[in-house]
Amino acid sequence: MEVVIAPADELARLAADAVERLVRTKPDAVLGLATGSSPLKVYDELARRHAEDGLSFAGARAFMLDEYVGLPAEHPERYRNVIEKEIASRVDFAPGAVQGPDGLAEDLPTACAAYERAIVDAGGVDLQILGIGTDGHIAFNEPGSSLASRTRIKTLTQQTREDNARFFDDDIDKVPHHCLTQGLATIMSARHLVLLATGKGKAEAVHQLAEGAVSALWPATIMQMHPHATVLVDDAAASRLQLAGYYRQTFASKPGWQGL
Ligand code: F6R
Repeated sequence: MEVVIAPADELARLAADAVERLVRTKPDAVLGLATGSSPLKVYDELARRHAEDGLSFAGARAFMLDEYVGLPAEHPERYRNVIEKEIASRVDFAPGAVQGPDGLAEDLPTACAAYERAIVDAGGVDLQILGIGTDGHIAFNEPGSSLASRTRIKTLTQQTREDNARFFDDDIDKVPHHCLTQGLATIMSARHLVLLATGKGKAEAVHQLAEGAVSALWPATIMQMHPHATVLVDDAAASRLQLAGYYRQTFASKPGWQGL
């Protein structure tokens, strides 16, 4: 696992560089998209590169990590709509190229199985962008999630619903209780994981992710088992890392030509 500690704008540029490098060498790449605040600067940077540098996603596809169950189709916080607003509508994905789990399906388990199949049929995800919850979740794999899980229904923790109330008029009662989420094994099947975390609120989760024992209590720790995982954190999110000095030294001495 590579841990990079840098200011948030620099982290966004590094993540965008990895996406750009992939899409330019493999125009039909499959991207994995996260929602939430962590990737927003990356999406801004990709939209800028699309507008100014001709970075094209016309041949690419993308799969979202998760979706709330039961939010009406037009709800602004439905993740399908958030992804459309934050990235899909700002670049040139082909119609239908961005997919997400169907939180409005009548038969949710069948929709989850179909989503897993769609990812496999697309050849798997090349680069998965991730955030991390303060409770250590990735996608919505809450503490206690099976490390071998696939896309399924999960119940959001009180902590996650409190954290996400800021997107729902600060009213926790408006935050759904259930979601569909890619499982930990689904995420681990992606070929490159790029996780972003900023702010002190993420410091304990980031410490556990990189340095804790692999455990369902901190689901993100499964990333320690991935052959190509990159963790991009700012100073505040890095503040509990025991090996912060070593991570900084490693990145500072990395050859410039070598991407993430
Ligand atoms: C969203 C997702 C979640 C978020 C996490 C952090 O698709 O999968 O795991 O990445 O809850 O959220 P933010 O970035 O808003 O702090």
